[in-house]
Amino acid sequence: MAFENITVETRGRVGLIALNRPKAMNALCAALISELGQALNTFEADDGIGAIVLTGSEKAFAAGADIKEMKDRDYMDVYMSNFITNGWEQVTVCRKPIIAAVAGFALGGGCEVAMMCDFILAADNAKFGQPEITIGTIPGAGGTQRLTRAVGKSKAMEMCLTGRLMDAAEAERSGLVSRIVPVAELVDEAVKVADKIAGLSRPVVMLCKEAVNVAFETPLSQGIRFERRLFHSTFSTQDQKEGMAAFTEKRPAVFKNA
Ligand code: CAA
Repeated sequence: MAFENITVETRGRVGLIALNRPKAMNALCAALISELGQALNTFEADDGIGAIVLTGSEKAFAAGADIKEMKDRDYMDVYMSNFITNGWEQVTVCRKPIIAAVAGFALGGGCEVAMMCDFILAADNAKFGQPEITIGTIPGAGGTQRLTRAVGKSKAMEMCLTGRLMDAAEAERSGLVSRIVPVAELVDEAVKVADKIAGLSRPVVMLCKEAVNVAFETPLSQGIRFERRLFHSTFSTQDQKEGMAAFTEKRPAVFKNA
């Protein structure tokens, strides 16, 4: 499929999507979001793909929603079209793991899309922020909620109220990103991590992702009960039998995704 605002490739078992609007710092226009949704759906449906990497360029993961495209829209228009919903939320419904590989600016909707992914690997030049307040609006793709859950109230509140950006070191310190990688190695490292995940049992990986995500939605006792039931259910898979047998027999496991 030909895309104009993203590039899409497969690297073995990994689907790699790169946001690609270099002249606009990868601003997330409607066409880009639609293409991103299509690419994610295609990888989700592809049995050959076990994990996805979402990246941008070395300069920008994405500098937010497209300000030029939205600046003249009015309330009824954005409300009735459910702006920042269709397409955007595709990232959150994908059942295969998505790693955000963030270099450069991840601002506004860019930071929000990165936070919708399952985890963020940051390049050493990454900068995160929710600067919407400086252009007279507020985060609209989950920034006030996901950033607060990731870094706590004080940092999230300061960033959302002032637009202050966070560099990679602060983002790692605050728990927003899993770790920092030199910018030149970012995509290869993200693909390596995604390939490691793609080589594990697909159904068990999906159960694991579901269990971690439930931590954000439920009280602890319910979350633990949910985890316990999913843990029990892994014992119905051939892959659990294979994984534990392989450990006992001191050989690599060969998972069948069954
Ligand atoms: N929308 C549209 N165009 C954008 C853009 C955006 N979010 N961000 C950058 N661009 C465009 C610029 O207008 C510029 O285009 P022209 O060459 O045609 O003028 C081009 O990208 C390069 O940008 P700069 O010249 O500004 O580059 P810089 O290196 O000086 O600064 C930057 C980079 C700090 C990222 C700066 O571009 C910037 O502050 N961008 C806007 C960030 C922002 O406010 N994001 C929030 C958007 S609202 C939102 O996302 C709502 C939501 O929650 C979903």
